[in-house]
Amino acid sequence: MEAVQPFDLVIFGGTGDLAARKLLPGLYQSFMAGGLPPEARIIALGRKDLGRDNYLASILDKSRTKLGDEFFDEGRWHEFAGCIDYQQLDAGSDDDFGRLAERLQDAPERTRIFYLSTSPDLFAGICQRLAQSGLAGANSRVVLEKPLGHDLKSADEINACVESVFDEKQIYRIDHYLGKEAVQNLLALRFGNAIFEPLWSHGNIRDVQITIAEKIGVEGRGDFYDATGALRDMLQNHLMQLLCIVAMEPPISMNADNVRDEKLKVIRSLEPFTPETVIANTVRGRYQAGQVDGDKVPGYLDEPGIGSDSNTETFVALKARINNWRWSGVPFYLRTGKRMHGQVAEIVINFFSPPHAIFPVGEGAGVTNRLYLRLQPNEVIELQLMAKQAGDQNLLKPVKLDLDLTGRGERHSGAYERLLMDVARGNQTLFVRRDEANAAWQWVTPIMKTWDALDKAPEPYAAGSSGPDAAIELLRRDGRSWIENA
Ligand code: BG6
Repeated sequence: MEAVQPFDLVIFGGTGDLAARKLLPGLYQSFMAGGLPPEARIIALGRKDLGRDNYLASILDKSRTKLGDEFFDEGRWHEFAGCIDYQQLDAGSDDDFGRLAERLQDAPERTRIFYLSTSPDLFAGICQRLAQSGLAGANSRVVLEKPLGHDLKSADEINACVESVFDEKQIYRIDHYLGKEAVQNLLALRFGNAIFEPLWSHGNIRDVQITIAEKIGVEGRGDFYDATGALRDMLQNHLMQLLCIVAMEPPISMNADNVRDEKLKVIRSLEPFTPETVIANTVRGRYQAGQVDGDKVPGYLDEPGIGSDSNTETFVALKARINNWRWSGVPFYLRTGKRMHGQVAEIVINFFSPPHAIFPVGEGAGVTNRLYLRLQPNEVIELQLMAKQAGDQNLLKPVKLDLDLTGRGERHSGAYERLLMDVARGNQTLFVRRDEANAAWQWVTPIMKTWDALDKAPEPYAAGSSGPDAAIELLRRDGRSWIENA
C-alpha cells in the first residue's frame, strides 16, 4: 500500500473520549507498525487550559486500557507521544484559530487533517473559522464523526455548511465499522471469489440477519446517548453500512465512487416504511436492571445523566426488504442493543434447505446451510454444512468449516488506525458520501416519525438478555428465529 506522507492532524475534541480511547491508540498502533511517518504532528485541541504534559497524562490511562497490556509498551508510547501537542482552543474564538494557523504555518505544503470529534452543532462554525484563518486550502481534509445530524434536515444543514468551505473530495464522513478488517474481508469474500456469487441472491438465500449486540451500557455518555438512541447511534450508520456491503452489486473497481455508487443503490432500493409497516416491522427496546456477566447492572433510566422521563431506545430491531432483482422477497433482519447478553457483531446468511430431504436429520433438526461472518469479538468466517453423523444410520448433523482470520498470526489494523491512514493517503473508499448518508436518513425518517407520533415507551428487556420479546416475535411470525451465537 502507498506510503503515508508526513501530515498534520488536528483533533477538535482532543480531550474527549474518542480521542483517548480510539484515535490516539489507533495512531499509536500505526506508529508501532511503522506506518506513521516520523514527521507526523498531532495537535489535540480542547477548551481546557491543560498544557501538553497534563494533556498527555490525562489520556495515558484510557489509551493504555484501550490498548491492553499486549499492545501497550510504556517506553514506545512516550516515543510516540513525542509527536503530540496540545492547544487550548475555544471553537468560537477567532484568535484561537489564528494561533492554530500560526502553529501550522511552518509546513504549509503538508496534508492537513482536521478531525471534528465535537458535537455536530459546532461543525459549521469550525469550518467557517478554518476558512477565515486560511486553513481550508487544497491540501486540507476534514473528517466528520457521526452522528452527523439528528435527521435528514439537520444533516443536510451541517453538510451544506461544511461544503461551503470544503469540496466533497476533502470531506471524510467516518463510519468506523467500514474500517474493521472483517468488513473489508466481506468485500474480499464476495468479490475476490467466484464461488459465492451464484449463490448470493433470492434463489438461494432465505434471509439475512445482522446483529450488533453490546454488553456495555451508556458508559458515562448519558447526555449524548439520551439525545441520540440506538436508531441514530447504530442503525442509520453501522448496521445500514453492513447491509450495503452484504447486498451491493459488484463495483467496477475499489475506487471510492464506484463502491459508494453501489452502496447508494442498495439504500435506494430499500422498501420505504409506512406508519403501518413501522408498527409491524420495527421494535424499540430499553433495558431494565439485570445482570451482565454475573454483575448486577442498573436499568437505563437509572444510569447517570438519564432523566426519569426519557423515552430513548437502547435497542432496535427491524425487518427490511430490498426491492431489486437480486434480493426481492429476502427479509433482512437487523438488530442492535446495549446491555445485551453478548458482545458480538455478526452477519448470518441463511440459505434454503435442500428441496427434497433424503436423509433423516439427527442433531440440529431444522438447521440449514449458513454462512456466519463474525466481526467481533473475534473475526471468523464459518460455513455451516450438513454432514453424516458417525454410526450405521444415515443421520445428519451440522458441521462448520471455519476460517479463523485473527489466528493466522497476521497483524490486523484497528478500524480507526486504518481509516486515519486512509485519510492521510486521500482514499475515500471506506468513507460515506453525502448522498449515501442522506439516503440512509431518508429511509429511517418514517421510523422516527412514527415512533414520535406513537409516543410509546420502548419495550422493556432485562439487561443481559437478548432483547425484548417483541424482537423474537418479529422473526417468529415469519417462522424464523434469531441465530444466537454469542
Ligand atoms: C459507536 C457508538 O459508533 O459505536 C457507540 O456511538 C457504540 O454507542 C460503538 O458503543 C460500537 O463500536 P464497536 O467498534 O465497539 O463495536
